[in-house]
Amino acid sequence: MVHRLGINSQHNKSLQYSSSNRMAESGRDKDSSIQNIRTVYSIKNPEEKVKFYNTWATRYEKDLALINYQAHTFAAEILDPVFPKKREDALVLDIACGTGGVAEQLQKRGFRNFHGIDGSEGMLKIAESKGLYQNLKKCLIVPGERLPVSSGNKSVPDSQPFSPAGQY
Ligand SMILES: C[S@@+](CC[C@H](N)C(=O)[O-])C[C@H]1O[C@@H](n2cnc3c(N)ncnc32)[C@H](O)[C@@H]1O
Repeated sequence: MVHRLGINSQHNKSLQYSSSNRMAESGRDKDSSIQNIRTVYSIKNPEEKVKFYNTWATRYEKDLALINYQAHTFAAEILDPVFPKKREDALVLDIACGTGGVAEQLQKRGFRNFHGIDGSEGMLKIAESKGLYQNLKKCLIVPGERLPVSSGNKSVPDSQPFSPAGQY
């Protein structure tokens, strides 16, 4: 009995230890996730920014999940009512597609055709592994320059000089 209590109290201690350890680890993970987000927003130079995304790519989704990032869902929600019908025929050009978060959300809503461009090879590799895009291209987006894409459709003009609405 004493022995069992001993084991139980040892077990309880180790449970307490591992749960407080886990809490500390998840606190550290969250701090480092917030730090990565601060860093990326502090980088203004496009080449430097995509370099940072390259180093961050494998942790990117985990970090954003820790802070409950929802921008990819909001983007899909905004596009959703614009194409009430025949979404399976629409071709979505996902600019700065990253690891494919927006395409994943759009696929859930019935979109099927995605082309993606992004400046980070690391992010593109993860997007590619999801098998959602028919076409992925590495491209550095520079305000005022044309995107290297063609609609392949004569009724839709090819890309105009591009002005991002914000930073990503
Ligand atoms: C915040 S992530 C967004 C990814 C995706 N759209 C989503 O919502 O899940 C921003 C992406 O933009 C890309 N990016 C940032 N600046 C860029 C630039 N100037 N040219 C090309 N890609 C850029 C990064 O490589 C990164 O993959």
